[in-house]
Amino acid sequence: MSGVWHAPGRVNLIGEHTDYNDGLVLPFALPQGITVAAARRADGVLDLESGGRHARVPLAGLVPGAVTGWAAYVAGVAGALLEAGHPVGGATLRFTSDLPAGSGLSSSAALECATAVALNDLYGLGLTAKELVPVAQRAENAYAGVPTGVLDQSASLLCEEGHALLLDVRSGLSSQIPLELGDYRVLVIDTHARHSLGDGQYAARRASCEEAARKLGVPSLRDVRNLAEALTRLKDPVLRRRVKHVVTENHRVEATVGLLRAGAVAEVGALLTASHLSLRDDYQVSWPEADAAVAVAANAGARGGRMVGGGFGGSVIVLAHRDALPAVREAVTARFTTTGWHPPTYLEATAAPGAHRLS
Ligand code: GLA
Repeated sequence: MSGVWHAPGRVNLIGEHTDYNDGLVLPFALPQGITVAAARRADGVLDLESGGRHARVPLAGLVPGAVTGWAAYVAGVAGALLEAGHPVGGATLRFTSDLPAGSGLSSSAALECATAVALNDLYGLGLTAKELVPVAQRAENAYAGVPTGVLDQSASLLCEEGHALLLDVRSGLSSQIPLELGDYRVLVIDTHARHSLGDGQYAARRASCEEAARKLGVPSLRDVRNLAEALTRLKDPVLRRRVKHVVTENHRVEATVGLLRAGAVAEVGALLTASHLSLRDDYQVSWPEADAAVAVAANAGARGGRMVGGGFGGSVIVLAHRDALPAVREAVTARFTTTGWHPPTYLEATAAPGAHRLS
């Protein structure tokens, strides 16, 4: 039994650092992602290769911490399936990617989700895409040791072509929101500043949110019903900022969905920029190249833009009329070059399908 499977990267249109606060996210899948050619093996071993790197992982004795580096994301999926009692065995897995690692477009989730759909089919496990989400997330959290929320794996597994995925993390309910851009385009700008979610800042933000929720006496920041009152009750100025971002970001997701449903896509730009400013000033996870790209793009005629992903590096998205794109790109590249930064790279994002079998 063998075949080829693909899992996409994602951009999150809006709803950043809300997932681990039981909040709302609105990602869509990219055409770019990770493809895996996979075959069953009878020897109980995962034989992995990606970009010239090899790894051999026996499934016997596979526990969190047993595998490190890139192979942990893959082995972790098999480990999480076995933990949940699913009879998965050995496999040869050959990965190719057209998604730059560290660009904030969820290459690690794509790696997990490609593995998950491949093993699910190879071993006839019969799990739905929705059931694979916690498997892929456990691989990332427990086996790769990165304490992310559920945004990236949900996007890679559940998104549908032409749609953004509105996911309410608290209820687990999701709906497909048609992403009809008309004459507008979502431009992804890879700033080439590289991030690592393992560097402690991400975990520190999560811890601050948990501390704030505790101080406010609510299970999570999703339960803050009166922002002004919550802000007066919190004495720590840093916690106040974090709460302000999370609560207002959930509102921005709802407002964005309302505008998309009304066909008012151009107006979404202002919400993207508001999200960016909140991430920059209140959540404090932006980085200089992202701030410059958002500001310069707006000056050059974009309707708005924001950093995507965890922060401290990676990509920015910009919403612009297609006629404004050349000027936006030219102005952003000029700014990066004159500042002495690595020139940015661009891709025009379209909403692609979630993880699936290719052949
Ligand atoms: C990373 C994590 C996600 C999410 C975002 C911020 O991409 O993997 O779970 O928390 O950061 O929105």
